[in-house]
Amino acid sequence: LPQAARDQQQGIVAPDDIQALCESILQQAQQVGGGKVADYIPALACVEPEQCALTLATLDGKLYQAGAAQQAFSIQSVSKLYGLMLAMQRVGDELWQRVQMEPSGQPFNSIVQLEWEKGIPRNPMINAGAILVSDVLVSHYSASKNAVLSLVRQLAGSDDIFADADVHQSELNHGSRNAALAYLMKSFGNLHSDVGEVLDHYFWQCALSMSCEQLARSFAFLANRGICPFSGNSIASHRDTQRINALLSTSGMYDQSGQFAFEVGIPAKSGVGGGIVAIVPDFGVLAAWSPPLNNYGNSTRGMYMIRELANRLGLSVY
Ligand code: DON
Repeated sequence: LPQAARDQQQGIVAPDDIQALCESILQQAQQVGGGKVADYIPALACVEPEQCALTLATLDGKLYQAGAAQQAFSIQSVSKLYGLMLAMQRVGDELWQRVQMEPSGQPFNSIVQLEWEKGIPRNPMINAGAILVSDVLVSHYSASKNAVLSLVRQLAGSDDIFADADVHQSELNHGSRNAALAYLMKSFGNLHSDVGEVLDHYFWQCALSMSCEQLARSFAFLANRGICPFSGNSIASHRDTQRINALLSTSGMYDQSGQFAFEVGIPAKSGVGGGIVAIVPDFGVLAAWSPPLNNYGNSTRGMYMIRELANRLGLSVY
């Protein structure tokens, strides 16, 4: 069967219709109920839950947007990607002696596995792994926050990106579980810098505020073998982008990563602010946002929007 006929059979839409498709998926998502806004970080509890946004940035420079795509929100765990990229560049393969690359099968803030596995986190996408990565950054940069901020601004092509001071402070005040993870790693000798400094960096990074548009632009290099398609700058090696995308496929949606691979089939990362970014190698980046979360900590409407858009455009990498 010719490709166009096969696409039609599978309900895959032609590029002309992508803008209309994004708008109709956003409208459908607004009818999707369920989920609960994260309230274990008090500053996140007061976010308006009905907000909804969808962006698709393609490597040829097109931007398809629906809803509040320019509204900044707390990116939370999506920030783990920026930290990881810097740490991979800074210390190379040494990093993988201190953090594994396996799915955890546990909630993102789980502590049990970390003791069995002697303070070595399962992967850099769970909290323990991202705290370990923050330790690498604090140990190797004299100003680790500035290093992350200038990378993020460069990638997003925007200077209008900041960490939200209220969210940062709120997590510092309510971060006992993350502190427990950090101290447990310290007790095994796997955390080298001062715990307070490491947690401060980690919480600051999670408190970055960005819009779907900024997120989608900033991760385009991951879909483009390490080259930012907008500036032409080389951001990471092709090998590092393959590795980051592989980690996203197995661990980016926490212990719902298997279901996400099954139903959607693209590397993705979520955060408890309700954002999700999904990387389609050699095509582009999808970003979705809506605050209510399911039991795994993933945005219910965000999952709906990414799944629908990926399925209708035939984007699964498998
Ligand atoms: O450390 C935390 O719990 C939050 N700052 C980030 C967690 C997060 O976004 C996990 N995502 N689903």
